[in-house]
Amino acid sequence: IATLQPTAWLAGKRVLVSAGGTRERLDPVRYLTNDSSGKMGTALANVAAAAGAAVTLVTTASQPVLPNVKVQAVATAAELAAAMQTEYAAADIVIMAAAVADFRPAQSADHKLKKATPTAGMTLELVANPDILAGLGQTKTHQYLAGFAAETDDLIQNATAKLAKKGADLIVANEVGHGRGFNAPDNAAVLLRPHRAPVTLAMQPKVELAAAILRAIAQDLEGR
Ligand code: CTP
Ligand code: CA
Repeated sequence: IATLQPTAWLAGKRVLVSAGGTRERLDPVRYLTNDSSGKMGTALANVAAAAGAAVTLVTTASQPVLPNVKVQAVATAAELAAAMQTEYAAADIVIMAAAVADFRPAQSADHKLKKATPTAGMTLELVANPDILAGLGQTKTHQYLAGFAAETDDLIQNATAKLAKKGADLIVANEVGHGRGFNAPDNAAVLLRPHRAPVTLAMQPKVELAAAILRAIAQDLEGR
């Protein structure tokens, strides 16, 4: 981030970004999570801040941020949802880059769970987390709302379905798994917008990909 040159192409814009994989508690020492590192979301926050925006980053990760990024640390999907809802009204550009756990344990114990019988198996009951991006889409007023689609198969088809389902202005589709996407230094993506042809962004460092995504968003906003 030391190499990010201060510019002003997002001056006056208020940017809200979420980053990282949520951690869903099972007991005080165990949780369910995913491979997200928070690098992509943090890169978006840093690039936006360097471009002159007022940036709030709601994150489960501890990646380095520029001093002018306002960081809100969260762990669970519920905490992330609450933070996003609080900050939403005052944001112009909202980017859900967090990898929100789709499910959480139905119960979270306040003591360390014991293995009752060493040889027995265990079944975990999970309940669905709310879809934060879809919720923001439903209550959208002036915001430009962007989300990600992490797919292992049928990238464009699956991600295009999410564009409509979430009420987003942009879905950044990227392939994950087998070393791609999550926690990698580089990433490639396809930008999907309503009534627009897909735009492919080549494999590049996440900071550069973040800049390309934000430039596309800034252009869309200019055309409004
Ligand atoms: N998302 C969210 N809340 C959830 C799940 C996902 O806000 N409970 C957001 C993510 O931050 C991302 C987008 O929705 O911006 C797509 O996430 P993804 O996991 O790819 O899609 P899902 O809708 O969860 O569908 P599935 O996992 O079944 O592919
Ligand atoms: Ca999901």
